[in-house]
Amino acid sequence: MIRPLLALEAATDTVGVWTTLAQHIDKGESVSLLVEYRDRTVAAYLAYQIEDDGTTHVLRVLTAKPCQRQGIARKLLLSVMAQAERVTLDVHITNHPALALYGALGFEMDALLSEGYVRCVWVKSVQ
Ligand SMILES: CC(C)(COP(=O)(O)OP(=O)(O)OC[C@H]1O[C@@H](n2cnc3c(N)ncnc32)[C@H](O)[C@@H]1OP(=O)(O)O)[C@@H](O)C(=O)NCCC(=O)NCCS
Repeated sequence: MIRPLLALEAATDTVGVWTTLAQHIDKGESVSLLVEYRDRTVAAYLAYQIEDDGTTHVLRVLTAKPCQRQGIARKLLLSVMAQAERVTLDVHITNHPALALYGALGFEMDALLSEGYVRCVWVKSVQ
C-alpha cells in the first residue's frame, strides 16, 4: 500500500522538511484514508493516528496536483473531524495553501515547533 503513496508524495510539491511517510506507517498505528482514481492510483490521502489522550493527530494530508482545489482535502479533514473531539496537525509556517485550508476549517495555531513548524489544533465546540 505504501508504494502508491510514496509515488504521490514524490510528484507533489511539499513545503518544509517532512519525516518520511514510511516512518509513520511502519509504526502500524496510523489509519490512512485514500481517494483513488478509477484505475486505483491514489489521488489524495490523509493519514492520522489516535494519541493516548484521545486526540486525533493528522500525520499527512496530500492531494495530487491535478486534483487540487476541488475540495478533496477539505472533505478528508471534515470526515476525520466528524469523528473526533480534538484534532491536531503540524504544518510548516510557509505552507500557505495548507494554512489556508486549516484556517478555513477552524484550526488555530497552538504552538511553535522546531524547524519552522507550528502545531494547529481544532476542538469540537459544545453546542
Ligand atoms: C494543502 C493541500 C492538501 C490542499 O489540498 P486540496 O485538495 O487542493 O484542498 P481543497 O480543494 O480541499 O481546499 C479547500 C480550501 O483550502 C484553501 N486552499 C487550498 N489550496 C489552496 C491554495 N493553493 N491557495 C490558497 N488557499 C488554498 C482554500 O480555502 C480552499 O477552498 P476554496 O478552493 O473554496 O478557496 C494540497 O495543496 C497539497 O497536497 N499540498 C502539498 C502537500 C501538503 O503541503 N500537505 C499539507 C502538509 S501539513
